[in-house]
Amino acid sequence: MTSPSATAPDTHPLGSAAAATPSGTRRGTEFEGTVTVLARQAVGDDVVALKLVASSGEPLPVWQPGAHIDVVLPTGATRQYSLCGPVGDTAHWQVAVLREPDGRGGSQWIHDHVEEGGELRVRGPRNNFPLRPAARYLFVGGGIGITPLLPMIAEADAAMAEWSLLYGGRTRSSMAFLAELESHGERVAVRPQDKHGLLDLAGFLGDPDPSTLVYCCGPAGLIDAVEAHCADWPAGAVNVERFAAAAVRQPADDAAEQPIEVELRASGTTVTVPPGLSVLKAVEQAGVPVLSSCEEGICGSCETSVLEGEVDHRDSLLTEDERAANDTMLICVSRARGGRLVLDL
Ligand code: FES
Repeated sequence: MTSPSATAPDTHPLGSAAAATPSGTRRGTEFEGTVTVLARQAVGDDVVALKLVASSGEPLPVWQPGAHIDVVLPTGATRQYSLCGPVGDTAHWQVAVLREPDGRGGSQWIHDHVEEGGELRVRGPRNNFPLRPAARYLFVGGGIGITPLLPMIAEADAAMAEWSLLYGGRTRSSMAFLAELESHGERVAVRPQDKHGLLDLAGFLGDPDPSTLVYCCGPAGLIDAVEAHCADWPAGAVNVERFAAAAVRQPADDAAEQPIEVELRASGTTVTVPPGLSVLKAVEQAGVPVLSSCEEGICGSCETSVLEGEVDHRDSLLTEDERAANDTMLICVSRARGGRLVLDL
């Protein structure tokens, strides 16, 4: 998301309809370390692009369109930002950050403190929003949500797929990377709201088409509108990345608000998780370290394999198929049906 950072995205993105990699995880080769800011450039009102290199001078891991990195701030906060530079470039990563005056402070910290030559702690990349092969793509970007779409567009273009982009924002000057995008000519429709009003999703998306995949990243209202418009499209045709959690999923049943027992098989311990405490927090309190970031069920950091028990999924990331498989869960928000889970922790 993300990325990320767009409208509510200080919290950034992170998607849904993501397909896990064949190994069952969204994590590829992960880097965790310090990067140096090689360049900082304004690319729109309140949007800066940061070009990063590993401070050690080593190559950075490869990534695929849709991937993001975590930026771990000195404040202890972690924010996710989509990689938006050239995919094959292992010497540099690029992210773009929108200043969110009403956010939780992460994007403001980056705007106010991160200068060329400075260093940032990052980890990743991770991909919750992979681009799957298709003959035709319809991309819909809102605000800073354009960032994960940039490498997707480059890949679709290189693969000679048919593609179009509908890109919305408050004003033209708030919209990043316009020159790069508009070099693609009529495939790109730039529609700032102050001139064009709300995006014409019906006109852009049209009718369901089995050869077409839709990719959307942006504010929640835009994503909700795209999903609503595409309700009749084939399963998996619409892929979105959210900056903030979708409407809170309701507990599966009353029992979901009861204490649950969670066995951490690899650690040989069992924790009781009372209502109001997340599985993630209970696991951490038991002294078992788990990677986490958003704690809202959108980034995928805390994804954990489920060995036994039925999950009450409450995240905004897993697909319906992944939920039905019941072999993985986001422990920052999801709980258990039936009162007991066994996790591979
Ligand atoms: S999904 Fe982000 S920490 Fe759990």
